Amino acid sequence: MLHQDQVEQARKLLAYLETRTTALADGVYRNPVSDYTSPQQAARERDLFFRRGPLCIGLSCLLPKAGDFLTHDYAGVPILLVRQPDGSLRAFLNVCRHRGARLAEGRGAGARDFSCPYHGWCYGLDGALLARPDESSFAEIDKAASGLRELPLVEKYGLIWLSPTPGAGFDIDALLAGLERDLAAYRLESYHHYETRVLQRRINWKVAVDTFLELYHLNVLHPRTVGPILYTNLATFDAFGRNLRMIGARRTIGELRETSEAAWNLIRHSAVVCVLFPNTVLIMQGDHLETWHIFPAGNGVDECQMYASLYTPEPALTDSARRHWDRNMELLMATVEKEDFPLSEGMQRGFYSGAQQDVIFGRNEPSLQHFHKSVKAALAASGG
Ligand code: FES
Ligand SMILES: [Fe+2]
Repeated sequence: MLHQDQVEQARKLLAYLETRTTALADGVYRNPVSDYTSPQQAARERDLFFRRGPLCIGLSCLLPKAGDFLTHDYAGVPILLVRQPDGSLRAFLNVCRHRGARLAEGRGAGARDFSCPYHGWCYGLDGALLARPDESSFAEIDKAASGLRELPLVEKYGLIWLSPTPGAGFDIDALLAGLERDLAAYRLESYHHYETRVLQRRINWKVAVDTFLELYHLNVLHPRTVGPILYTNLATFDAFGRNLRMIGARRTIGELRETSEAAWNLIRHSAVVCVLFPNTVLIMQGDHLETWHIFPAGNGVDECQMYASLYTPEPALTDSARRHWDRNMELLMATVEKEDFPLSEGMQRGFYSGAQQDVIFGRNEPSLQHFHKSVKAALAASGG
C-alpha cells in the first residue's frame, strides 16, 4: 500500500477506534444457504471460476530460477508451470500429447526438458516436442503441432495468474480494478517463499473464504490466538471491482498517534486482508505475507482443498529467523486449522438441517457481503 493510502486508512482505523465503530454496509444482507449447498451452483462455479479462471497461483518466488517447475492440480486440470531460460514464466497442461501421461510431478529445479515417463516423448521447457522414440512410426503427426498445450499466464506485481483453459486470455489490471496500486507497492517480486501447507476440509470453498472476511468473531472464537493481537469488530472495507480489501488494526495501532503522519507505517500495525477474486486471500501480516488459495474438491459442494503459504521479505537464513517464521506459521494454523475450520465444518453440516433458508451478514460485515454479491454477480454475468 502506498504511504498516502496507509495514512488515509490509518486515520480511518484510529477514528473507528475512538468512536467504537467499524466500516458498515448500508444494510443487513441475507445470504441463501443454498449458496453453500447447491450442486448446481457448485457446478457453475467450477466451470466459471476454477476451469476458466483466471486464478492467482502464488508469488513469483515459487519458481525463481530458469528450469524451476511446479505442478498444480487444484483447479481440476493438471497444470505444469515452468520458468524459462529468458526469465519468463509459462504454464502448460501437464498432459503428454502421445497418450496423455503426466510429464512432471511436484516441484523441482534445474530441468532442461521434460521426458514423458511412459514412452519417452521429450518436451523442451517451452513445451515444444523435441523428440519421440521411433520417430518414423509417428512421422505423419506433425511434430511442430504436438507441443504441450499452453495456458494463458500473467506474471505481474510479483504474483502469478493463469487460466486453466487454453486460449482464455485475460486482462489482469482490468480485473484488479485498482487493487494493483496496493499490490505494486508491496514489491512482492522481492519476497521469498518460506513454507506451504495443504489442507482439506468438509466445507464449501466459500465458507473457507468467509473465515477471513470479518473480525467480528475474533475475541469470541480466538481469545488465545489472534484475539489478543487484533481489535475485534473493527476493520476498514474497500471494494476493487469484485476484489476487496479489509484492514484490521493491531492493538499497537495507537502508537501511530505518537509520530508524525510522514513516519506512519500502517502495515506494521495492521493485518491487511485482500481477496483476489474469487478464491485467493492475501494477508499482509505486519512483517510477512500469508496467502490462501482455496478450491472446491471432491463433489465441489461441501469439500474444499487449499494451500496456505507464508512468504517473507528477506530469505530465512538463520535459526532465529526460522524460529520466528515457524512461530508465525504455527499461530496461523492454530487459529485457522484448529479454531476456524472445525467450527466451519459444523456450519456446513448445519446448512443441511433446514434450520433456515438464509444466513445473515450484519452491517459490520461488509467484506462478506461484497464477496458473496460478487460471486452472484459473476455467475449472473456468465448467464448462470
Ligand atoms: S504417453 Fe507420453 S510418451 Fe506415451
Ligand atoms: Fe477466525
